[in-house]
Amino acid sequence: MPIRLHVMKNHEEASRHVAEMFQQTIREAPASVLGLATGGTPERVYELLCQFHREDGLSFSDLTTFNLDEYLGLPAGHDQSYRSYMTERLFGHVDVNPDRVHLPRVDDFPPDEAARQYEALLQQTGHVDLQLLGIGTNGHIGFNEPGSARDSVTRVVDLTEETIRSNSRYFEDESDVPRRAVTMGIATILKAKRVVLLATGGSKSRAVAEAFGGPITDANPASFLQEHGDAVFVLDEAAADGLAGILHGVP
Ligand code: GLP
Repeated sequence: MPIRLHVMKNHEEASRHVAEMFQQTIREAPASVLGLATGGTPERVYELLCQFHREDGLSFSDLTTFNLDEYLGLPAGHDQSYRSYMTERLFGHVDVNPDRVHLPRVDDFPPDEAARQYEALLQQTGHVDLQLLGIGTNGHIGFNEPGSARDSVTRVVDLTEETIRSNSRYFEDESDVPRRAVTMGIATILKAKRVVLLATGGSKSRAVAEAFGGPITDANPASFLQEHGDAVFVLDEAAADGLAGILHGVP
């Protein structure tokens, strides 16, 4: 099934659309397994989910969560670790059960072992019900950089120069950005029952257009989502900018 599209006016509306998808999933099935992403893009989604918890009583207590990835080489508790990110933006503000919140345990185990355990735990849990994704300017999902195989699972990866440069905006200095990470693989991500990719801003428009309508290739790892049966891209107008030519040919 082709990837479905929702083009919203701006970042706020796109974020609200995604937050409402998560809210609906949680209300319909409070014991869902959620796949979560980091980066700048989903920050507003998490703010809205915190608001739904605070004001509308949305409960996270029966959920299980798995994050896509984690940096390697940061000191435990570093404010740019994805564990800190999630605590600060979501887990620290809602009634989630800490025992059911998962990120690769890179502070407790050697990297390869942390990756192996994470994949095993995911398989043991069954499938992710709703997976949130962002996209890198080079088409990466999680930290599956160009060249990542369709059958890749959770593993240790090297980050590309483009990703390091792009993520340096969150660090004091580019030299502080980790060079490696543990990430769910492409095959791991594609096992999720439903996938929603949120992308906003013109810097993502090329990667989005290639992923949506280009060839399915490891040169743009997000293009593998074309093989998923239930994937949706939620975009703002700027991120959707490159799609015009492609959509022209779509009925
Ligand atoms: C990061 C994360 C991805 C994220 C992407 C885009 O490196 N590992 O999960 O989707 O890059 O980040 P941002 O939303 O900050 O542009």
